[in-house]
This record gives sequence, structure tokens and C-alpha cells, in this order.
Amino acid sequence: MSIRIDYTNMLTPAVGSGGVDPQRLGGDLQERFARARDAVAARRAGGALGFLDLPHDLEAARGVAAVAESFGQWFENLVVVGIGGSALGARAVRDGLLGPLWNQWSDERREHYPRLYVLDNPDPSTVRALLDELDLTRTLFNVVSKSGSTAETMALYLVIEGRLRALVGDEAARGHFLFTTDPERGALRAIAEAEGIPALSIPPNVGGRFSVLSPVGLFPAAATGVDIEALLGGARTMAERCEAPALTENPAGLLATLLHVADSEYGRPIHVLMPYHDRLRAFALWYQQLWAESLGKHTPGGGHVGPTPLPALGAVDQHAQVQLFMEGPHDKVVVFVRAEPHGDPVAIPDHRGADETLGYLAGHTLAELLDAERRATTEALRRGGRPSLTIDAGRLDAEALGGLFLLWEYATVYAGALYGVDPLDQPGVELGKRLTYGLMGRPGFEAPEPGATDGTRAV
Ligand code: PA5
Repeated sequence: MSIRIDYTNMLTPAVGSGGVDPQRLGGDLQERFARARDAVAARRAGGALGFLDLPHDLEAARGVAAVAESFGQWFENLVVVGIGGSALGARAVRDGLLGPLWNQWSDERREHYPRLYVLDNPDPSTVRALLDELDLTRTLFNVVSKSGSTAETMALYLVIEGRLRALVGDEAARGHFLFTTDPERGALRAIAEAEGIPALSIPPNVGGRFSVLSPVGLFPAAATGVDIEALLGGARTMAERCEAPALTENPAGLLATLLHVADSEYGRPIHVLMPYHDRLRAFALWYQQLWAESLGKHTPGGGHVGPTPLPALGAVDQHAQVQLFMEGPHDKVVVFVRAEPHGDPVAIPDHRGADETLGYLAGHTLAELLDAERRATTEALRRGGRPSLTIDAGRLDAEALGGLFLLWEYATVYAGALYGVDPLDQPGVELGKRLTYGLMGRPGFEAPEPGATDGTRAV
């Protein structure tokens, strides 16, 4: 089954005045989307949207698969070292397709594919705990950085390299690294060339948060046995659908347009992504970075725009955030995601002597319960006049996950055009990076005044 988006609950007949008049979908919103689609097509023609070429590049994917195979199953552990767009995709693929408990499975159950860890934050206690726990002599570190210079990633590389050199010696330490970086620029590429460390290339026109279908996401996926051609196949099918000129036939166009109009006209700048599937929890974090870093920007006219993406998980967040979604300010749209359960839906058995407080559960499955929770929350929001969308991913396999990635990437560039910002840059991240360099003593970078970062008033 292909991915479907149900937008009934975004429209006035379902949610009243908080919704969009369906007539507009064939009127002004179609016109607005047509302009956005033209702007995106022009950027693509100019070569800026490299992420749209990735699903077609089977040769590159086969190259990545060959590199993954060349490592064989000799490594017991694969650690992706990266941050932001260089980390979140790998985690989303791992949890989405292998499951969040992959690393706890036995070697046999994992068919001897390596455990897969993602090390992003340079938090010393996590880093120490992981490096102490793993058998480093059986561990491959895939250091991922598009720029090849991000302080967090490079510091982690230096720490890991130091540990390995002390353990196995300089020469053998090199055999524990694979880099994924820009084909020419950056310190990581220079180290790869100077020390003969193998390095996969991220196409220059593919930015971090749009790189999951490049070697950034494909290498860890291939190394753990994921069918990466199916991942790309699903993305290709979705890309085609997202090029349709009619708004109501274009899944990415519809997502972008309805979420943009909810923010800009209906006062709903908080865009919640709420999958009812543990395997998609990491996907929601990937979405959060994509939506936030791409759309939160200065406009050319000096304004400030950008929706706030909020990840949630059903049914867990029904006991945490849904109270706020139901009765708090009318400032949110919830995008639900449903997908079929993996494997056995787990029957709920009868309880001896159960009365009606428990008896109703027997004969159902946990999967049915989870889906009932999703449907009930959707309906409760609708009754409260609160709009929502539902993405039905069908069977959550490699094809579907590839489709979901491409859907949100395409929606992001359409939303960029609708908000009037460049979704591909992130100038707001730069000042913090420069001040970090200054604080860490990098020559040529200014550190903040003493006291400025710690404040002078505290209690
Ligand atoms: O999306 C982005 O561009 C960022 O989130 C980057 O992925 C992140 O800053 C890491 O950058 P790099 O891959 O250059 O180390």
C-alpha cells in the first residue's frame, strides 16, 4: 500500500471555523502552491536540490553497499559519530527498520549484523560509558560530517582515535574508521587523504538534514542488512507523487500548504508529529530538526518566521502532552502517523474472573488497542475543533520509510517557498559555533566577555 495522507480533519466540515474551507484547495491555496512549486522547480534546475537526485543514484548506492560488504560481519559494533543531520537519519533508519531494541538482540537474532550506536552529543559520561562498554577491537567508527569540521564530531573523533591508538597502535587504529564527508573540503577529508582512511562522499549539493538517503544514512543501513535499494525505491515513488501540479494530488504540497496556512492564517505555529509506533519515535526527532532548522529564519523583508515542530509519541503522550493539545491554546496542528504493527500483534488473554473493567480487553490485540487510542485521540481533537492530519504509512518497511523521508524533505522545500525563506541554509547556527570556537581557544575566533555566558545575577 502506498502512503496516504488523510486531511479531512483540517477542513471546516470536520473542525468548524478552525479549519480550512475546502473551496480554497481549488482556489487561492492551489495558486499559492503552484507558485511555490515553480520556485522549487527553478531551484532544482539550478542544481540546489541534490537530495532529489539521491533516490535515482543506484550506482552510488551500490558503491555504498559494496563498502559495507567489504567490512563483512567482522565488526560487532558500528558507531556512527556525527551530530544533527549527520546523526538523526541513521537513528531513524535503525529504529524504523531494525527496531529500537536491535542492540539488545543476540548475534543470531541480528543475523550477525553489527549493533548500531549513534554518538552525537559530546557528553563525557555517555561517551565514556559507551567506549568502556564496547569491545573497541571489534568496533567500526563511521565519522560523519558534511563540513568535516564540526567541533562536537571532530572532538569525538580525536577522543576515539586516542583510545584506539593506545589500544591497538597507530596503524591498526586507522582500520577502525570510515569517514563520510564532503568529496573535497574539510578536515575530515584531509585526514582521510593523509592517513589512507576510507571515506564515502556526500554530494556537495546535499546538506546535512537532507542527507539521509546519501551515504550518510545508507552506509549504516547497508551495514546492518537493510535493503537500501528498497529505501531509495520508496523515495523515488514518493518524489514522483510530490511533483504533481494539483495540490490535492500532491502529498508534500498538501502537507506544506496546510501546515503553512495553519500557522500563517489560523495562529497554529506548533506542528506536532505524533506517530503511534515506537519504531517511528526517532523519525519524529529527524522531522523536528528538518522542519526547525529549515524554516525558522529571517525573511528577506526583515521579519521572523518559522513553525515550531514538536515530536510526540502515541499512546505515551496521551498521558503527557495530549491534555495540552486538547485544552491548551489553539496553536497546534497534530500530524498523526499510523503504520501496521511489525509481526505478531500480541493477543490480550482472558483474565480469570475478569469483570467488565478488564474483560473487554480480552480477545483484542495490543495493536488494536494502540490503533484505537490513535483514532480516539483524533476524534477527541476533532470534537474540540482542533485540526489534525493523518499519514498512513501502511507496512513500515524500507520502501515506506524511504517514502516518508522524501515526503517530509519535499514538504520542507515547498514550505520554505511558502514562508519565503531558504530552507537549505542555517545562518542562525553560525554565531553559536563561532563563539564556541572562541571559548575553546581556536585562533581567529572571539570569545564572549567573561561573565557574559554565566550571567551576573543568579539565585
Ligand atoms: O542540517 C544541517 O546542516 C546541520 O544540522 C548539520 O547536519 C550539523 O550541523 C552537522 O554538520 P556537519 O555534518 O557538517 O558536521
